[in-house]
Amino acid sequence: MYFKSSPVRKRVVEKELWQRKGLNMKAIIAINKKNYIGLNDSLPWRSSEDLAHFKKMTMGTKVLVGRVTYEAMPKLKGREFIVVGKGYNTLEEGLAQNPDWLIGGKKLYESAIHLCSELHISVIDDESIGDTLAPDLDNFAGLAAKVFKYSFKTNKNNV
Ligand SMILES: NC(=O)c1ccc[n+]([C@@H]2O[C@H](COP(=O)([O-])OP(=O)(O)OC[C@H]3O[C@@H](n4cnc5c(N)ncnc54)[C@H](OP(=O)(O)O)[C@@H]3O)[C@@H](O)[C@H]2O)c1
Repeated sequence: MYFKSSPVRKRVVEKELWQRKGLNMKAIIAINKKNYIGLNDSLPWRSSEDLAHFKKMTMGTKVLVGRVTYEAMPKLKGREFIVVGKGYNTLEEGLAQNPDWLIGGKKLYESAIHLCSELHISVIDDESIGDTLAPDLDNFAGLAAKVFKYSFKTNKNNV
């Protein structure tokens, strides 16, 4: 039971509206044991297992990405990048292109993760300290997103 004007209710309504327009977006995120997702605009760990998982899930699809993550990441083949940020798309314009996956980073997760139908979380066996913590995923519980969890190891010596 939500209050009419509560932030949760607002997110539920927003999700319903986008789904009615045909949006069927899932989120994919990797989080380490200390709850970090980023360091220096990159990942705090090296995990070939998780990269292979990311590739398998997103290959041949359209992915929605924040400007900071996009500009820092290698140009991955086989995926169509819909970038949100100055000089690219607004969030609305990005969503209107019906992305299959929301791939981060933090600001974009915080703006759009509640619109996703599925949440795929890679838990990385890594305890390093980053500079970017995971968004509050509990915030989005109860919004009917299915949650999938995977466990991945880092490479030997994290290289
Ligand atoms: N572990 C993981 O799964 C994962 C996945 C992705 C990224 N990351 C990490 O996350 C960190 C980057 O996160 P971040 O928050 O700094 O960057 P980000 O979300 O990738 O990009 C932020 C930028 O995207 C644009 N943006 C985001 N939400 C917007 C909205 N609602 N409306 C309009 N524009 C919006 C803005 O661009 P403008 O500044 O141009 O306005 C904003 O400054 C990096 O360390 C990266 O490696 C981790």
